[in-house]
Amino acid sequence: MENNLSLYQRSKDFLWTDKHIAKQMLKLHLDTTNDAASRNEKTINSTINWINGTIPEKSLILDLGCGPGLYSEKLALNKHIVTGIDISKNSIKYAKKSASKNNLKIQYHHQSYLQELSCGIFDIAMCIYCDFGALTNDEQVLFLTNVSNNLCDNGILIFDVFSNNLSNTKKEEKKWDYCNSSGFFSKKPHYILYECKYFNDANAWGTRNVILEKNKIKEFITWDTMYTKESITQVLNENGFKVEEVKTDLVHKNEFTSDDVFFIKARKT
Ligand SMILES: C[S@@+](CC[C@H](N)C(=O)[O-])C[C@H]1O[C@@H](n2cnc3c(N)ncnc32)[C@H](O)[C@@H]1O
Repeated sequence: MENNLSLYQRSKDFLWTDKHIAKQMLKLHLDTTNDAASRNEKTINSTINWINGTIPEKSLILDLGCGPGLYSEKLALNKHIVTGIDISKNSIKYAKKSASKNNLKIQYHHQSYLQELSCGIFDIAMCIYCDFGALTNDEQVLFLTNVSNNLCDNGILIFDVFSNNLSNTKKEEKKWDYCNSSGFFSKKPHYILYECKYFNDANAWGTRNVILEKNKIKEFITWDTMYTKESITQVLNENGFKVEEVKTDLVHKNEFTSDDVFFIKARKT
């Protein structure tokens, strides 16, 4: 394990696929009042209303990082034809059950959006809750290539990113804590070593949680890259997309992280 966190370093453990954490994440997704894992219901609804109004009726939609399908279901109810993919087995299992219970025809696949996708060609691809900025620069190129390969000509990508004001909610620090019972990171007693660091060159925050159990160490590193309209436009232009719309007023007060977020609608060129 490295002593100093370096830019876009990846950990072998991953927050979204750890068995214990996946269960905590699902609970957070399904709590419509909080903003952890998925945004609160009011924000989800305003996002859905905007997406619905800005895309053609009965669009073929690919929901990347769909989680338990909160957006996929609402879009399917609006008569779009939706496919969702997610790296979390637990979320996909829940999403499949929920769609069947609600009589909705949604295809769900347990897959990474950083691997070649083979679930069809879509009019719209979407990726909601700042996943794009959680990727390293190389992963972003891979993501945009994958998306482009699975969009029809002139297809649309919709996603959101944090603006620079995310920095108001973070500070550089190292601290530790002890949890003597089951917690978010582990069901056994554990220490949490926490590090948060800003990387000026990439305008990104890195967060590392090292979890020490009696006989086990787990490490989770996550990234949040912040953007301006100009900087995200440049990334998209370099990767075959043209920004068509930027929407800044969809996110209602967010209790978990920054609500200073903007949504981008970009067209494949
Ligand atoms: C912040 S959550 C947002 C979930 C959903 N879009 C929402 O807003 O309700 C991020 C989601 O992306 C998924 N995810 C993270 N990395 C992924 C990857 N490489 N491929 C597919 N899904 C991924 C996670 O499992 C999680 O469900």
